[in-house]
Amino acid sequence: MVRKKIVVLGTGGTIAGTAADPGDGIGYTAAQLGVAQLLQALPGQAASSFELVTEQVAQLDSKDMSFQVWRQLALRCAHWLAQQDVQGLVITHGTDTLEETAYFLHAVLGPDKPVVLTCAMRPATSVHADGPQNMLDALAVASLPGAQGVVAVCAGTVHGATDVQKIHTYRLDAFSSGDAGPLGFVEEGVVRLVKQWPEPPANICLTAIEKVANSAFWPRVEILMSYAGADGLVVDALLAQSASDSPGDLRLKGLVLAGTGNGSLHATLEAAASRAQQAGVRVVRASRCCEGRVLMKPGDSLEHTRGLSPVKARVALMLDLL
Ligand code: SIN
Repeated sequence: MVRKKIVVLGTGGTIAGTAADPGDGIGYTAAQLGVAQLLQALPGQAASSFELVTEQVAQLDSKDMSFQVWRQLALRCAHWLAQQDVQGLVITHGTDTLEETAYFLHAVLGPDKPVVLTCAMRPATSVHADGPQNMLDALAVASLPGAQGVVAVCAGTVHGATDVQKIHTYRLDAFSSGDAGPLGFVEEGVVRLVKQWPEPPANICLTAIEKVANSAFWPRVEILMSYAGADGLVVDALLAQSASDSPGDLRLKGLVLAGTGNGSLHATLEAAASRAQQAGVRVVRASRCCEGRVLMKPGDSLEHTRGLSPVKARVALMLDLL
């Protein structure tokens, strides 16, 4: 019988990082080892009932993630997901922008097979390397019959793409799904699901992937935070630049405002945001709180982000503007 495939796509990150000193958990260089090398380091029985295929899509520290890499990654995911003999995908990724990539892939692919992002908080050369266990757990999730949607697996926990957030700078269990809670756990290679697998987004556009593939540049959407003394000067500077003859990719198309508490904004920032809205810029309000969602109340003039964090709201707005 032909074995089904699990395709492991490498993009870099700490999981592929190396350090001169195995005791050094922070002084390392991310994205040094190829994805095939990461798999070779696993015990031989890993996902033995599946054929493992590897592909290096990128090799970067995820703080430097770009639209070009996202586009390439989305296209390679779409390619592999369309193959009948592919059971699921695993993507190795840095922790720093993992939640943005997960949400982007969820929004453009809405897959009916598992697409599992995994990562590590310590480099591959560390005495405390967490990448191998995270990879094994991700393979366990990708192998599971019936699994579907874009999820993230880290420290034995399965998170959905919409809710996952990196909430800690250092500890191995660096991710949370906030109020929503995780989808499940991986224990000794067994997946224990406590929720349903993610459904494709309700508003997914069938041509989303083509739009991503065919765009020369993406709509410029900036994130600004509200804080004591926020004065909106940056909004006016962005508007001034957009009004000039600057190339299309520099012109401001959207603004995500990370407000205080329930998405409230410093009065001067709000006034500047209204000027931006009148100039044709889409403005949405998120909250700078890491849990909870913005609740609309009578008189609110700026739309809110339906519970998305500022970075995910930016992805959603860019895709909307496409
Ligand atoms: C990265 O995001 O690529 C580096 C940091 C990490 O993976 O933890």
